[in-house]
Amino acid sequence: MYTTEPARLRAPHLHRQGSATQLIVDGRPFLVLGGELHNSSSSNIEYMRPVWEQLQALKLNTVLASVSWELVEPEEGSFDFTLVDGLLQDARRSNMRLILLWFGSWKNGMSSYVPAWVKQDYRRFPRVKIKNGQTIEVLSTLAETNWQADARAFAALLLHIRKVDSDHHTVIMVQVENEVGILGDARDRSDVANSAFAGPVPQELIDQLLSHRDELGAEIQQRWEARSFNLTGCWEEIFGDGPETEEFFMAWNYARYVDRVASAGKEEYAIPMFVNAWLSNPQQVPGDWPSGGPLPHTLDIWLAGAPHIDILSPDIYLGDFREWCRQYTRRGNPLFIPEMRRDESQWNVFYALGQHDTIGTSPFAVDSIEDPAHALLGKSYAILRQLAPLILEYQGKGEMVGFLLDKEHPTIKQELNGYELEISLDQLFDYKSEHAYGLIIAAGPDEFIGTGHGFGVKFRPTTPGPTYGGILAVDEGAYRNGKWLPGRRLNGDETAQGALWRFPASDSRIGIFPSSLLSTGIARCFVYRYE
Ligand code: DGJ
Repeated sequence: MYTTEPARLRAPHLHRQGSATQLIVDGRPFLVLGGELHNSSSSNIEYMRPVWEQLQALKLNTVLASVSWELVEPEEGSFDFTLVDGLLQDARRSNMRLILLWFGSWKNGMSSYVPAWVKQDYRRFPRVKIKNGQTIEVLSTLAETNWQADARAFAALLLHIRKVDSDHHTVIMVQVENEVGILGDARDRSDVANSAFAGPVPQELIDQLLSHRDELGAEIQQRWEARSFNLTGCWEEIFGDGPETEEFFMAWNYARYVDRVASAGKEEYAIPMFVNAWLSNPQQVPGDWPSGGPLPHTLDIWLAGAPHIDILSPDIYLGDFREWCRQYTRRGNPLFIPEMRRDESQWNVFYALGQHDTIGTSPFAVDSIEDPAHALLGKSYAILRQLAPLILEYQGKGEMVGFLLDKEHPTIKQELNGYELEISLDQLFDYKSEHAYGLIIAAGPDEFIGTGHGFGVKFRPTTPGPTYGGILAVDEGAYRNGKWLPGRRLNGDETAQGALWRFPASDSRIGIFPSSLLSTGIARCFVYRYE
C-alpha cells in the first residue's frame, strides 16, 4: 500500500492506521526521532556546520530548526531563502529530515522575530494592550494587517519549499508560530479587542462546540453548562466572567489568526502543520502562561478555530509527562512532542511511543548536549531506529504498551495478545529499581519484543484454557534492516530462572549484572501456558 509510485512521490502527509495517526514520508510511515535546536542556531549556516555531526552522533533522524520572518523577509515583499536552502542542503548531506519552526508573529508569546519594518510601524501593525492600558511588544490577533502580512510571508516560504523540496521531502512538517498567547494578562484589552469581547461569541464556534458537546474538556463544558448551554450572547453570557473566559476568547482569536497563516501556506504546499503550547501550571493564572495558546483546556476551541492545523502539541518541561500525553490525545488529536526536557527524554520517548502512538518526540536544545556520542538520548534513539519498522507496523492496533514506573506507580497491568502483563519495578536481588521505563510489543502469538530499563514482566493468560503463563525462552538480539538477529539465550539469572522477563539495571551485591542485562537493549520473549 505504501510502495506505489504516486504514494512515494506524494508530499508528506498524515494517514490514519487504526487508532493512530502516522506521518507518511516518501510513501511510508515515518517515526520522528527528533531534536530541536536552540532558537538561533539555524540563523547561520556556518554556525550550524559542525553541529550536524553532533546531531548524527545523537542518532537523530529529524532536526527541528527555526526559520524566522525577519530573516526571510528583511524588506517588505522581498524574500531571501538563502538560509533555508543552506539548511536543506546540509540536512540532506547529513541524512536528516527537517521540521521547520515558523517564528512569525509570535515566539513564546512575544513578537521578537517579526521584521524591523513590522516592529517599527506600530500604527499599521497594532500591538496588544494589557491592564493599565500598557502596550506590549506583541502583535494583536485582532488586526487584519497583522495576519495578512504574516500569511504572505509564510505562503512565500511554503511556495519556496515546494519548489526546492517537493522531489526530496527533506522538510516533513512545519510548526506555525511558537508558543502563542498573551503574557502579563488574560486577554488583549485594546479597543478593538474590548469590543470583540463585548460582542457575540462567533456562531462557527458555538456550532462546533455544540456538535461535540459530549466530548468537550471539563473546563469549557462546566462553564457553558452553568449558563444552561446558552447558544447566543457575548463571551461572559456564554462562559461566565473571569480570566478563564478571557482565555477562551484569546484562544479563539489566536486559533483564527494562526489558521489563516497555515491556510495560506497550505495553498502553496500542503504538508502537515502543527502548533505548540507553553503549558499551564495549577499554581498560576492565564497570563502567567501565554493566555490563549493550544492548551488542554482550550483544545476544543483550537479544534474549532484552526482546521488547517493538523496537530496541537505540548512542550513538556514540567508536571507529569504521562498526564500531558493523555490530555493531548483527546478528541483524536495526534500526539507529537516538539519540545521536552532533555534530561528525561531518553526514557519518556519509550512511553510516548508505546502508550500513545506518538508521531515522534524532540527534546529541546540538542545542539548543546555535551559528548553526544555517549549521550543517553543517542542510545535510546539507536534502539528505536532498529525498532521503528516494528513500532510503525503495530501503531494504532492495541498491541503495544509503553510505561514509566516509579515509587508512586510501581506496577501496571496491561492486556496484550491473550495475556495480562504485570510490569513492575525490578526488585530482585540487591538492586531495587526506583525508576523504570520501557515499551513492549505483542509481535506474534505467544511472542513479545521489549526494550527498556529497570523492570520485570509476569504473564497470565486471559483467554480460556490453562491459567498459568510461563517463560519459554528469552533471547537478546538486534534488528538489522528490519531483520531479527538473535544474540544470547537468557534463561538463567537474567530471567530469575524463567520466573520473570527482566530488564534490570545492575546487581552490585553479587555482580550478576555489572552494568545492564542486555548488550543490545532489545529482547524477545516467548511465553507458554500451563496448568
Ligand atoms: C520553549 C520555547 O518554545 C523554546 O523556543 C525555548 O524558548 C524554550 N522554551 C526554552 O526553555
